Amino acid sequence: MLEAIVLAAGKGTRMKSNLPKVMHPLAGKPFLQHVLETTRSLAPANIHLVLGHGADVVQASLNLAEVNVVPQEQQLGTGHAVMQVLPQLADDSVVLILYGDVPLISRETLEKLASVANRKALGLLTVRLPDPTGYGRVLRDQQGNISAIVEQKDASPEQLTINEVNTGFISVHAAFLRDCLPKLSNQNAQGEYYLTDIIALAKAAGLDVVALETRHLYEVQGVNNRQQQAELERLFQQHQAQKLMEQGLTLLDPARFDCRGDLQIGADCIVDINCVFEGRVVLGNNVRIGPNCLIKDAVIGDDVEIEANSVIDDAKIGPECHIGPFARVRPGSQFAKGAKVGNFVETKKAVVGEGSKINHLSYVGDAELGANVNVGAGTITCNYDGVNKHKTRIGNDVFVGSNTALVAPVEIADGATVAAGSTITLNVKTNQLAVARERQRNVDGWQRPKK
Ligand code: UD1
Ligand code: MG
Repeated sequence: MLEAIVLAAGKGTRMKSNLPKVMHPLAGKPFLQHVLETTRSLAPANIHLVLGHGADVVQASLNLAEVNVVPQEQQLGTGHAVMQVLPQLADDSVVLILYGDVPLISRETLEKLASVANRKALGLLTVRLPDPTGYGRVLRDQQGNISAIVEQKDASPEQLTINEVNTGFISVHAAFLRDCLPKLSNQNAQGEYYLTDIIALAKAAGLDVVALETRHLYEVQGVNNRQQQAELERLFQQHQAQKLMEQGLTLLDPARFDCRGDLQIGADCIVDINCVFEGRVVLGNNVRIGPNCLIKDAVIGDDVEIEANSVIDDAKIGPECHIGPFARVRPGSQFAKGAKVGNFVETKKAVVGEGSKINHLSYVGDAELGANVNVGAGTITCNYDGVNKHKTRIGNDVFVGSNTALVAPVEIADGATVAAGSTITLNVKTNQLAVARERQRNVDGWQRPKK
């Protein structure tokens, strides 16, 4: 049986934050959420989550269904944290120990690690780092077998030069944990019960310490301060960018690309610099996205062009649409084939028919537009009366002149024309012209005031 323990009770002093460390985001998601999702994918019999500092915040913000929360009132060290779970572990379990501040560990690595532990052997995931500062160093005996881990603060100058470090991930049999944890002492530089001391105890008890090395640095990189958070974010984004390029995406600069969710791409899409993708985004074939766009929870059809500085959130964009530059497409927007939504246009719950155009400076909210509608510059749907939202319905082949206010609820039927500058409060029937503005008056010989 496999059980997992996730340690997340520490304060994260080095983050200098009011938020518990494990709630800080990586790619838009708390570190701990990454760890829990990966842990769940292993389907262990139990996931024990050790919480202490900021436990209330963690419990209020994360979905902890099927997670056994174990309190650690005082944070006396990683060994002490695991001790809190001891009474709840089954005797014959293999226990996988994970840290809540090491977010990118992969399922494959954990599976391998779990597979080496048994009553006679313990698994330890290590990595060689060019700069091992801050990590526990892995000590090996003359035969090259692991003999102990020494923490940075307890290490001799000579030990500090070792670049093989403890990632924190350990797989160990529950029976051995029961046996060795009570033997831990806190006589060390930090006055803490170090989990890492079980390695030397395992060695003394004649257990094999099986070291697994990982080549993927980002998988085992812990976050203890804001610098490491930023570094890991970049590493992860680079990794995602590489994967997407392997799938055929053109990124004009992979160093200026951010995906905080799940991005699916069709063939021959091009993404310019500084674009951010959030939630679940699906791109069709030949989608071109200009610089500085934010695209969240959207499905974008084939041959769509999204120009610079556009924001798209919770929307469905049909094929051959043209969006932006500077468009804001808000939730519930659905554009049919070939629609155009241009600069400084905001749409919300707007269903726009095939080939319709809203090219400049408009707000279209709670509206349905048919096909081949032209919405002139500066047109506003007045959808809100201060209490309720009302709908604007526009048929096919409608022409709305510039600077029109459409006071909802209102309907403009097929083929109708609205004169520029109108304030439309009454429905307009098929093929009618609606003019709703003051008539122009010209005064001859008008004398302007003089200074
Ligand atoms: C730890 C390891 C170090 C390793 C590094 C890898 C120990 C003693 N050291 O150091 O060898 O190289 O991780 O990232 O284990 N926690 C608790 N309760 C506590 C203390 C910590 O739940 O009383 C949790 C923290 O919330 C954190 C994790 O354990 O998620 C690790 O604690 P942290 O203080 O970050 O240990 P490191 O100094 O990084
Ligand atoms: Mg840490």
